[in-house]
Amino acid sequence: MSTKKIAIDGPAGAGKSTVAKAVARTMGFVYIDTGAMYRAIGLGAVRRGIDASDAKAVEKILDELTVTMKHGPQGQMIFLNGEDVSEAIRMPEISVAASLVAVIPAVRLKLVELQRTLAEETDVIMDGRDIGTYVLPNAQLKVFLTASPEARARRRYDELREKGVQTTFEEVYQDMLFRDKNDSSRAFAPLRPAEDSVLVDSTEWTLQETIDQITDMVRQMTGDL
Ligand code: DC
Repeated sequence: MSTKKIAIDGPAGAGKSTVAKAVARTMGFVYIDTGAMYRAIGLGAVRRGIDASDAKAVEKILDELTVTMKHGPQGQMIFLNGEDVSEAIRMPEISVAASLVAVIPAVRLKLVELQRTLAEETDVIMDGRDIGTYVLPNAQLKVFLTASPEARARRRYDELREKGVQTTFEEVYQDMLFRDKNDSSRAFAPLRPAEDSVLVDSTEWTLQETIDQITDMVRQMTGDL
């Protein structure tokens, strides 16, 4: 029997991961955060002193970088060459490195293969930028989740502050604008809504309202109302 697939795409800070995690828990899907995979490659490049925008240099070390994931009740853990990097990949400088390495087709092809394999093994809700358009074009439900840049930067800033990361709102906002532009303008699998996606704008909604709305869509999709 083929597995169920849900795609949640959208720009940084729209709430994709929080929503996808909650829906996965309620509906019994495995949540897969594809951004974490790009972050792991970005981290690998930064740690080796490589400029993440230097495609040739990144391609050269790509075979040395093995990304694996573990999915348990506490959510997803991500490993780079066997080391748990689930925390390390969340630093703001790694967000930018992830966006830069994500432009490189060889990086995308390597990670898309892993993403598709995971989606064949089990029912998944996968979040990213190109899940509905490229990774899982046959997903039964595709959501494009967005919010205004200010609302997204505010949420991301609050999240980072809560974790004790030293940063300013302006820095987070500028990083976000840079990533929006970089992720939307790349040639290969850019950020954009799939034609058959449902557009959800969460600017005026609380996280719980967004979770409820998308959970309802999933229930309708699975006929589980
Ligand atoms: O979702 P995130 O903010 O953790 O993702 C980090 C970066 O990775 C994002 O700026 C663009 C890239 N990315 C991508 O290109 N395609 C995906 N499916 C997921 C993330």
